[in-house]
Amino acid sequence: MRKKIVGSSWKMHINSFDDASSLAQGIASRVGQQDDIDLFILPSYPLIPMVKAMFNGTVIKYGAQNVAVAKQGAHTGEVPINLLKELGCTYVELNHAERRANYNESDEMTAIKVGLCEEYGLKPIVCIGETGEDIKLNRSYLTLRTQVMWALSNASEAFRKEIILAYEPVWAIGQQESADKTYIEKTHRMLRDIVALDFGEELANQIRIIYGGSVSPQTAMELSDVKDVDGLFVGRFGLQPENFEKIVNNFKGESND
Ligand code: PGA
Repeated sequence: MRKKIVGSSWKMHINSFDDASSLAQGIASRVGQQDDIDLFILPSYPLIPMVKAMFNGTVIKYGAQNVAVAKQGAHTGEVPINLLKELGCTYVELNHAERRANYNESDEMTAIKVGLCEEYGLKPIVCIGETGEDIKLNRSYLTLRTQVMWALSNASEAFRKEIILAYEPVWAIGQQESADKTYIEKTHRMLRDIVALDFGEELANQIRIIYGGSVSPQTAMELSDVKDVDGLFVGRFGLQPENFEKIVNNFKGESND
């Protein structure tokens, strides 16, 4: 049985300690004691120690939105994985579409970072997803299969099942609504088939595949009973504690009344 998981990256939406503190506090008090599903929050690097303190005594895990491709050395402006480990991070997000598009991150870099996560004991959340152009050119399958390959290939068999695949169709990020349920359902099924084909049935049954891209409380309700959707990766619509709570509860199949 795959345990459901819901998490949120604050991206750079939260840019003050005060805002981060009230958001973290609100989230901790609303969902910090439930343990039906796994929860995580990924703030900007400098907020990690604060989030760590705020989530102390709750079930909420935290992590980073990226990590350096090297362990140590002359890499100005980068953050080494060992510091994330020492800060108690559980997760590291990798390969987000914004990092690929704006900061030249590549499949190769993602694979190296997955290897570092294994070495340091952090769980990678690897984003994958086709662009609108991929759909137009009828190459979504190729893009997704290639990304799955890079996400999993540089990990041991044992570590592969710790990796979370975050399916984020690039065209559905930052929109008013997420992709529709049928499309998400179909693609998650296809992704699990790809994992089975390239890495075996056992991993395909174990690996968690979560959906991201304009996730709202409505999306959470729609996707709560979709077999191959193991979780949600929330962006803008999780930046109010009450909304994040609704998303969590809706995805669990509970009402908020
Ligand atoms: P969004 O972000 O929900 O604000 O579209 C999702 C993401 O990029 O993970």
